[in-house]
Amino acid sequence: MDLFDRIRENAGPLGKYADVAEGYYIFPKLEGDIANRMIFNGKEVIVWSVNNYLGLANHPEVRAVDAAAGADWGMAYPMGSRMMSGNTNYHCELEDKLAAFVDKPAGLLVNFGYQAMTSSIDALLSRKDVVVYDAECHACIVDGVRMHLGHRFAFDHNDMASLEKNLRRAQALVEKSGGGILVISEGVFGMGGEQGDLKGIIKLREKYSFRLLVDDAHGFGTLGATGAGAGEEQGVQDEIDVYFSTFAKSMAGIGAFFAGEPDIMQYLKYNMRSQIFAKSLPMPFVIGGLKRLELLKTHPELKDRLWTIATALQDGLRDRGFNLGHTTSCVTPVVLKGSVDEATQMVNDLRNNYGIFCSIVVYPVIPKGMIILRLIPTAVHTLEDVEVTLNAFSEVADKLSAGTYSEGGFAEARIA
Ligand SMILES: Cc1ncc(COP(=O)(O)O)c(C=O)c1O
Repeated sequence: MDLFDRIRENAGPLGKYADVAEGYYIFPKLEGDIANRMIFNGKEVIVWSVNNYLGLANHPEVRAVDAAAGADWGMAYPMGSRMMSGNTNYHCELEDKLAAFVDKPAGLLVNFGYQAMTSSIDALLSRKDVVVYDAECHACIVDGVRMHLGHRFAFDHNDMASLEKNLRRAQALVEKSGGGILVISEGVFGMGGEQGDLKGIIKLREKYSFRLLVDDAHGFGTLGATGAGAGEEQGVQDEIDVYFSTFAKSMAGIGAFFAGEPDIMQYLKYNMRSQIFAKSLPMPFVIGGLKRLELLKTHPELKDRLWTIATALQDGLRDRGFNLGHTTSCVTPVVLKGSVDEATQMVNDLRNNYGIFCSIVVYPVIPKGMIILRLIPTAVHTLEDVEVTLNAFSEVADKLSAGTYSEGGFAEARIA
């Protein structure tokens, strides 16, 4: 069969909805400055879909530094991978400061979170090693684990009994192979908002020997007394062997970093294929990163403001009887019952008639019959945004239970 014929027949789990959903549910275009309110389909909406946790994306000091760095350096410099010709003092300064911020002795600045996470797993593991990872880890971890040539076990999400069972299996294997064990979790799981049970994982060190890699994309900047993330929040930052976060959320930028022991960072620096064979981060991202980190350190009120909004939103939703699952972070999932068709019509109603833009998660990502509307509060939302949203949610939830959305299908739900 011709490869392209097969692709044209089966566009993939999301791609098959492109005709009716693209531009609205999938690949929507949000216009205007990144803020609490943006423009969607020509109308103002309150946006709860952007991980601009601390509001840095459009912070005036950040915008000024980004623009000046663009003017001073352009978008190309430095050329080449850091290893070959793309390293600068600024790259080194940023990784040192990031490591200090998360209380680790050394750091490593990398290009993009996804590719860096994937290839760090590849670099850390040999065929003899066993990787044990949370079943709900982000795709970048799953893809990294896929590259591993040795044994890999997924433990049930945040389930310490399941982790222990898998550690027992892993231990039996490494006793024979002479390898080691790497456990991987997230600091905060981005869909449900629950923190990874880092304390529980570390407790298992009393019985099993392993190293711990934590992807703290949603915890960095939002959790812990200083914003150092889920490890700080749970009092176990010291026990995280390899700390990772992307700049795609609290830092409102591009890039990512690892932090840990100096010799391990050095090893990653020399062995991560995604970095050795890819271009280094351009200067505006690095200089802009330094500015963002400075604001994280010097303006704790941004995190306080984020939590004021997150708490008002989560308390308000709970008071109105909504089920927020198990969130222990700013990520706010609203769990409802309904079909995919109902979910799409409800989101359509929210966006079009109530001016609320949030993300929707449905089957097959979650079980059939469940709908999750996911809201991401930020420091730039207002209490008025929260109030408007709470009222809208009450109304659409009433319509959902009254069956208002039960007629009509996916195509009908689309706004042309
Ligand atoms: C948990 C997690 N890890 C990694 C990434 C990928 O990071 P990046 O966007 O820098 O590639 C994301 C998304 O941004 C994420 O949510």
